[in-house]
Amino acid sequence: MGIKRIGILTSGGDCAGLNAVIRAVVYRAIGTYDWEVVGICRATQGLMCSPPDVMELTIEQVDRWLTGGGTFLGTTNQGNPFAYPMQDGSVIDRSDEIIENYRSLNLDALIGIGGDGSIAILRKLMQLGNIPFVAIPKTIDNDVDVTERSIGFDTAVNIATEALDRLQFTAASHSRVMILEVMGRDAGHIAISAGIAGGADVILIPEIPYSISKVCDKIRERQAKGKNYSLIIVSEAVRTETGDTISSTNALGQCRYGGIGQYLADRISACSGAETRVTVLGHVQRGGTPSPLDRLLASAFGVAAVDLLAEGKFDRMVAWQQRSVIDVPIMDGIAHYHAVDPVSTLVKTAKGLGIYLGE
Ligand code: F6P
Repeated sequence: MGIKRIGILTSGGDCAGLNAVIRAVVYRAIGTYDWEVVGICRATQGLMCSPPDVMELTIEQVDRWLTGGGTFLGTTNQGNPFAYPMQDGSVIDRSDEIIENYRSLNLDALIGIGGDGSIAILRKLMQLGNIPFVAIPKTIDNDVDVTERSIGFDTAVNIATEALDRLQFTAASHSRVMILEVMGRDAGHIAISAGIAGGADVILIPEIPYSISKVCDKIRERQAKGKNYSLIIVSEAVRTETGDTISSTNALGQCRYGGIGQYLADRISACSGAETRVTVLGHVQRGGTPSPLDRLLASAFGVAAVDLLAEGKFDRMVAWQQRSVIDVPIMDGIAHYHAVDPVSTLVKTAKGLGIYLGE
């Protein structure tokens, strides 16, 4: 089958670098292969409209998007099309409708940019419709297995590191303990990377148990050495000492973490006597200008994904391994959740630097 016209969409939570990958896909598809590229708006939601919510993309249009944050196509991390919550309260399967609307666009293949959850849903849809599909991994959480890096992660680490750099001065000026709560869902990749890079004294991640008394020991140990402040970085899904996560459930039944920073602050100030403050970084980690590394990764993934389609290699996910883009069957790419390995180099590095990481 000769490809002439492809679709592209971004799905799941936004992150820095999404526009850079759309730009790369458009450059390669139009510039090298002379294909047409159609941008599908708001992920599968754009395909729930009839006619579908799309825009024809040109090189001129995407030219300035290398540095822009978010995704100009829009995205959603809500509303699984196989169990879609309708306004009347019913939940229905809208997959047939999406496939039918997709077909009305006369596309020969689709490139989907998403995290593990979005990629799994898109793949299921594409398999049902027998639609050629290639996936590109993005997520600040960096929890997509197989790829060493996903688009957006590096920028999030840069932002969290900068936050620690800034907090350090206020911590020192006021002799305080500063706690920075970062995102990452069930994986502590952002916290451990930014924690090491930003000189944290304590790094708490969901993968490694900890105790408040040991955190306080660390603070006292620093005080005994004349260091009047301490920096703590904590992943949003770290559990309380009794093993609970601090989370809420939104109207769609999705779990959203948040609050472990304040939980720790209350206990640390009680047990160490230190004045303690919390900063919750939140969506600042996802927005804004992508780092150079994320722009590089996005560009490399975009070009490689288009090349896969040109070679007739479908149902593949691009991934970054050992300084190169590789491609793997999508199911292999997302089969396992990629959490922080408690015996990894970064864990050893943090411990080697005397950072308290738990036991
Ligand atoms: O998966 C990316 C992520 O930013 C997580 O780190 C975080 O837990 C979640 O999305 C937040 O989702 P929302 O944008 O719906 O608040």
